[in-house]
Amino acid sequence: MPTNPPARGPRDPRFSSGPCVKRPGWAPAALEGAWLGRSHRAVGGKAKLAEVIERSRRLLGLPPDYRLGIVPASDTGAVEMALWSLLGARGVDVLAWESFGRAWATDALKHLRLADARVIEADYGALPDLGQVDPSRDTVFTWNGTTSGVRVPDGAWIAAGRAGLTICDATSAAFAMDLPWDKLDVATWSWQKALGGEAAHGMLALSPRAVERLESYRTPWPLPKIFRLTKNGRLNEDIFRGATINTPSMLCVEDALDSLAWAEEIGGLPALIARSEANLAVVADWIAKTPWVDFLAHDPATRSTTSICLRMVDPWFEALDAAARAAAAKRIAVLLDEAGAGYDLGAYRDAPPGLRIWGGPTVETGDIEALLPWLDWAHGEVKNGGGAR
Ligand SMILES: Cc1ncc(COP(=O)(O)O)c(C=O)c1O
Repeated sequence: MPTNPPARGPRDPRFSSGPCVKRPGWAPAALEGAWLGRSHRAVGGKAKLAEVIERSRRLLGLPPDYRLGIVPASDTGAVEMALWSLLGARGVDVLAWESFGRAWATDALKHLRLADARVIEADYGALPDLGQVDPSRDTVFTWNGTTSGVRVPDGAWIAAGRAGLTICDATSAAFAMDLPWDKLDVATWSWQKALGGEAAHGMLALSPRAVERLESYRTPWPLPKIFRLTKNGRLNEDIFRGATINTPSMLCVEDALDSLAWAEEIGGLPALIARSEANLAVVADWIAKTPWVDFLAHDPATRSTTSICLRMVDPWFEALDAAARAAAAKRIAVLLDEAGAGYDLGAYRDAPPGLRIWGGPTVETGDIEALLPWLDWAHGEVKNGGGAR
């Protein structure tokens, strides 16, 4: 029996985990000052790129001796240029507990074919045993596992006096979670996540020890131009001053500046983190009183505030076989989409069937509150056959 949907829905139904919803009040007019049709290497263009770097540094509280650059190919480009440029000098531990960490493990094992690479793994919902990480080796990890909604709780497990480098994919954490810079030698992110920017550009932060490695180690494999961070054995400092390796989109740059200005206006990093935490809190309150759903993350300390991943736990769902579970979860997401109540709420394609709500700082808490009754409705529809196709 179909039931009536809630009377009203979120004002903005966009809950995708990337590209993420743009900041409240965004309109195309935000791009009016873009440096268009001019060289990005002219003084004005380079100044815009340098401004993205400077304002990002300030907002994130990056230490003054860290480099920050804009690099090609989004977060994947930034992570892979770090892996290809730095790994192989010593053994490496790759932590993998969901799709992205596993992709970096594939890079290390199957593509770079490192002789001394260990993968420390866990299944969706859990973190691997962080106590196994050896500080004499390099460590590659994802701060926030976007596809399982499991994040590392802090950096306490990273040794202060480590000899290896830590390489952290921080794309769905940066600007939404506290990052302990003294524990991160390399950190990467992209613009379309926590600040709701446009995709295609990656950010790469390097500690002095990461720079030292770049200048003292030569990889046994060739590096394509797009990955090259050094020139004649020295760091290519130009990249970290806004002279990008290849051509950036100056529309995306203008949009990144708009999102940074918004973040500054609302109170900087503490305000961004608070907005994301408030989003998780309303979901947690709803889960506490809703028997059919639970977090995919087992340990509350590891629950992501940005990519909030849910699994269904009622007997109806658990009695279904794997294919029927996947179909039911997908149908819930389709019903929400068709009703205009919530877009892109399906779990990531490699993750267990379920739902995922982006709760980053650009999402209004009121929109998540307005979404939750719709999840109850869509679940009821599919469970009772009203949403079946
Ligand atoms: C943790 C993580 N790493 C990497 C990526 C890939 O990012 P991009 O598409 O910016 O390369 C994503 C995208 O969702 C992600 O969440």
